Amino acid sequence: MKIISKQILAGTKNTKVTKIVVEAPLIAGKAKAGQFVVLMAKEKGERIPLTVVNADKERGVITLIFQELGLTTKLLGTLNTGDSLFSIVGPLGHATPIENYGKVILIGGGVGIAEIYPVAKTLKEAGNNVTTIIGARTKDLLILEKELKAVSDELHITTDDGSYGKKGFVTDVLREVLTNKGQGSKVKGQGLVYAVGPIPMMKAVSKVTKELNVKTLVSLNALMVDGTGMCGCCRVTVGGEIKFTCVDGPEFEAHLVDWDELDKRTKVYCDKEDHICKLSKI
Ligand code: FES
Repeated sequence: MKIISKQILAGTKNTKVTKIVVEAPLIAGKAKAGQFVVLMAKEKGERIPLTVVNADKERGVITLIFQELGLTTKLLGTLNTGDSLFSIVGPLGHATPIENYGKVILIGGGVGIAEIYPVAKTLKEAGNNVTTIIGARTKDLLILEKELKAVSDELHITTDDGSYGKKGFVTDVLREVLTNKGQGSKVKGQGLVYAVGPIPMMKAVSKVTKELNVKTLVSLNALMVDGTGMCGCCRVTVGGEIKFTCVDGPEFEAHLVDWDELDKRTKVYCDKEDHICKLSKI
């Protein structure tokens, strides 16, 4: 559980996006795209879930990317190369169903960009035509552009403030891509849309693809405690049924998710952690 390397990928004066490579041979040997780990930075810290961005079986290491927002991610950010994490459990959750869908569109918002990278890479290797749309609040928070370009047939970038790429939201570009630059009805052959990011973004993506009838998967960032199906903290309603994000997900059919309930549950601690809710735009 030793940190082998650490790199700041992006940042503003309020927050940083950090990449760490961690020694975890058992997890590296098993993890697949879409799965996550739950870690504790220190013995007295809380557990947090992080997506496995890369698993290198030969070296026995995994790559994790996190945005320093709250107490635990900031604590994690104080650890350096050579330090060890207190604990790490994984791989958890179901892997992304990988098949040849034909054309897939992956959408990543904010630190969600890190989560779409392993999925984009694996879907590309499975023979899909991959279009990737990534968005951040501002250029300084955009990550993995080069890496995603290497595994995508097409890459689109948006920033909320127009500091890089197209000014606007990922959903603006998604609609254009799905309707051939906004000119008409849905382009034929769109097999799958896959989105990860803040809840308002995933909800907006779901609205667009529901309208155009395109199968859509989202990887949900529900609050978690144990990450193994015991506490119920990560409960979501999907298709009218109760599901636990940690063991039944983290991916679900976007059009079946009760977004309003998820939004409310995710904001339950916003009065105590207002700064996090503002920065992460959950
Ligand atoms: S995190 Fe406890 S049940 Fe999912």
